[in-house]
Amino acid sequence: MYTLKEPLENKNGQLFIDGVSTKTLAEKFDTPLYVISEKRIRQNYQRLNNALKQNYEKVKIFYAAKANSNLAVLKTMENEGANIDAVSPGEVFMALTSGFTPDRILFTGTSVRNDELKFLSDSNVTVNVDSLSQLDRLLKIAVPKVLSVRVNPEIGAGHHNHVITAGKQTKFGLWENNALKAYATAKAAGVEKFGIHMHIGSGVLDVKPFLAALDKLLGIARKIHEQVGIDFESVDVGGGIGVPYKPEDKELDLNVYSEKVLALFKNKTQQYGLGEPVFCVEPGRFLVADAGVLLTTVNTLKATPFRKFIGVDAGFTTLVRPAMYGSYHHILVANKMFASEEGKYDIAGPICESGDLLAKDRRLPKMEEGDLLAVLNAGAYGFSMSSQYNARPRAAEVLVKDGKYKVVREREQLDDLMVSQRMSAEWEQ
Ligand code: LLP
Repeated sequence: MYTLKEPLENKNGQLFIDGVSTKTLAEKFDTPLYVISEKRIRQNYQRLNNALKQNYEKVKIFYAAKANSNLAVLKTMENEGANIDAVSPGEVFMALTSGFTPDRILFTGTSVRNDELKFLSDSNVTVNVDSLSQLDRLLKIAVPKVLSVRVNPEIGAGHHNHVITAGKQTKFGLWENNALKAYATAKAAGVEKFGIHMHIGSGVLDVKPFLAALDKLLGIARKIHEQVGIDFESVDVGGGIGVPYKPEDKELDLNVYSEKVLALFKNKTQQYGLGEPVFCVEPGRFLVADAGVLLTTVNTLKATPFRKFIGVDAGFTTLVRPAMYGSYHHILVANKMFASEEGKYDIAGPICESGDLLAKDRRLPKMEEGDLLAVLNAGAYGFSMSSQYNARPRAAEVLVKDGKYKVVREREQLDDLMVSQRMSAEWEQ
């Protein structure tokens, strides 16, 4: 049995999100449709902020915009007082557009081009360098006042290999010896203020890897402090806080996370003479995942000698996580919340690939064409990873709040498939 959590509610067998009927939304705006609860985003931000502030005063939360870069979501974060973790000039542009001042934006990119570095430098955002090459090229453009370095703490974690971003196999961050070189180079060039950063991976429900990696990071920070004479303004432990997707998943207790991580942080910074740097975290998924659902309508019921398929109008172009990582997203029949489970189904999308399944072997009530499904925890890495593959226009997004709703991204139309294309190119010599 799945226990509904805020902002979801079962009202007379119909699924509501923050006081709005999913059926009404589907009728009004069609499906596939992403629905995001503004209230839940704010609650998540405040839950984390309060938990951290209980154990340390100087805390900054950087929202990882890649999880959901809808302007309305960014604006909500801005309004809550968040900062932004941006990974592309596009995300910096979106953050600036939503009202974030450059001092609230940290850029953490990898394989960054020179023109992108120029854009970042001109925009005055803080750059978190990912290689010595990137640092050298940045310093040639202009010497920033503030700089951060992404360090590989040699310990990674994550829900899938593709999202483990520290340790031996990853492209991210600088290893200790290169980190020492980077700080020495930046200091010699005239950089005045420094941060140190790590991000070990995504979808972590256990506090242990965060502790082990932070321990290592602070050990490296100590060497940099002692050998290069750097005083750190900030220590950024990255994102990665997981959320429960399966009914049996246990959520990471924020108080335990805060207590343990900050106890280690305070002990080691004191012991190593690192002063009282700002403690930064960069959650994406935690802040927005459970604030969003994806609504999709059943159009086809089909049985083969081996399997029963429910054909819906959302495929991996709408939500790629199940196809890409084998991720589980809980699915509810939004218009039959009291119906009991009847059989096992595969939920398949309209994309011409066998991997286009939102769920496999899922126990669901007896299904009918026209039923409305709600895919939960779709607020993070849902729309932001969607595509137009198979020439399918992307879904619309609706923001809900206390029984009210508004479209925050129009559904793409057929015309949108042709943006920037030319039927016949003019040859250039
Ligand atoms: N900071 C940095 C530098 C990152 O690269 C990421 C995520 C985050 C913060 C935020 O991580 P979060 O708190 O959301 O776990 N598409 C994958 C997740 C990829 C995450 C990439 N980096 C998924 O759908 O599971």
